Amino acid sequence: MSDSGDLSRPKDYAPTGKALHWAMALIVLGVIPAGIVMANIGPGALQNRLYDLHRSFGVLIFALAIWRVAVRLRHGAPAPYAGLTRFERIASAATHHTLYVLLFAMPIFGWLMTSAYRVDVSVFGLFTLPHLAPQNEDLFKFFQRAHFVGAIVMTLLVLLHIGAAIKHTFVNRDTVLWRMLPKSWGG
Ligand code: HEM
Repeated sequence: MSDSGDLSRPKDYAPTGKALHWAMALIVLGVIPAGIVMANIGPGALQNRLYDLHRSFGVLIFALAIWRVAVRLRHGAPAPYAGLTRFERIASAATHHTLYVLLFAMPIFGWLMTSAYRVDVSVFGLFTLPHLAPQNEDLFKFFQRAHFVGAIVMTLLVLLHIGAAIKHTFVNRDTVLWRMLPKSWGG
């Protein structure tokens, strides 16, 4: 099955866009479970280390998200896979766009929460980000809640996204997943 023909859109995702997709997928799949463990293990050296790593990788996701959106705006994205039903097209566009929003919103909520708590956001010990908010307990609680709710929505959408890729590959046996793979692998 071929992609729907829209001459104004590229035939493929940009190679940099594909590389960023897989790099960010790997980091998000590490940051979510690490965030859950870290928030629940109780105080200690391990928790502090996990907090540092979580914040650092979260900031890295934010930087990669900016790069990824820049690549997507410059290169464009291929038209939806032609074999999708109308429901699949709407559901996948909604999932992808919400994931993009969360890739920006989650780091910003985390940064605001940490600033309001007055802890420095050190990025891999290389540099420290400025505080985005004044020290304030109510503000901290608000962004902690926003980060928590965002984490639940993001986890559900990531699971849906992975589930859809598995269904397309092993049940429908189509080439949707190949669109995000390097050209040399048939993408
Ligand atoms: C896409 C990026 C991010 C994702 C997916 C993510 C995900 C998560 C998850 C799943 C949790 C556990 C929630 C809970 O069980 O309470 C968490 C907690 C936390 N995150 Fe993030 N996070 C991201 C970025 C960041 C950034 C950039 C920072 C700070 C600069 C940050 C700071 C925190 C803090 C301080 C907690 C602990 C909250 C608490 O103690 O209740 N996160 N994050």
